[in-house]
Amino acid sequence: MRKNIAAGNWKMNLNLDQSVELAHQVSKEQIPNDVEVILGVPYPFLYSCSLHTNQNNKVHLAAQNCNEHEKGAFTGEVSLDQLISVGVDYIIIGHSERRTIYGESDELLAQKIKTVLSKGLKVIFCCGEPLNIREGNKQEDFVANQLKNGLFNISAENLKSVIIAYEPIWAIGTGKTASPQQAQDMHAFIRNAVKNQYGEAASKEVSILYGGSVKPANAKDLFSNADVDGGLVGGASLKVESFVPIINSF
Ligand code: 13P
Repeated sequence: MRKNIAAGNWKMNLNLDQSVELAHQVSKEQIPNDVEVILGVPYPFLYSCSLHTNQNNKVHLAAQNCNEHEKGAFTGEVSLDQLISVGVDYIIIGHSERRTIYGESDELLAQKIKTVLSKGLKVIFCCGEPLNIREGNKQEDFVANQLKNGLFNISAENLKSVIIAYEPIWAIGTGKTASPQQAQDMHAFIRNAVKNQYGEAASKEVSILYGGSVKPANAKDLFSNADVDGGLVGGASLKVESFVPIINSF
């Protein structure tokens, strides 16, 4: 169901104490009725944070990645059953840092999504173009391909377990946010792509988040757009003083 969502992606930041304290502080908040909060916590701290997020039914836990295989000899990898056992509800799939730094292909992402959905978990599927693509005004083709090859081989029923996050790479960690209009244009484009693939009802139900230098100062302007259902927030999700105002920006 389409919801307003404030999701934090902590990436490879914070230690155990800092993570638990942040999860505790966020979980103590009175989250507005129409908002869901998701915390993308580093693997080692998921369980400890779950003891706090469990206390607030509007706060959920995400892992930032997962392995596409069920189990077995995959040294250093983490399986979905393991993530389920520590209280995870969502998996972030296809973040640009996984695509570009770790070479994750659309095919691999599609495989991960299939495994995540088969386990009854939810997906936050990231897409978004690099700067040179934006400069060539080819962002729509680029994102359409990411959707087609990475996401659109799932069923309409399974799409109900997916949140899409549009994160233009040139706006991630750079302080350069997409303008509210640029975000709205791409979100409308993505929603239309969902409509073409799955029909109008599905396109109206899917939540599409914007990510890339979301801050308390720009969250309201971004989230007030018709097709922007919230944010996937990196840097500003690491402190309760900056994340809570974003949660309250709808
Ligand atoms: P920043 O908010 O730090 O730009 O990061 C965005 C992001 O990559 C969230 O997944």
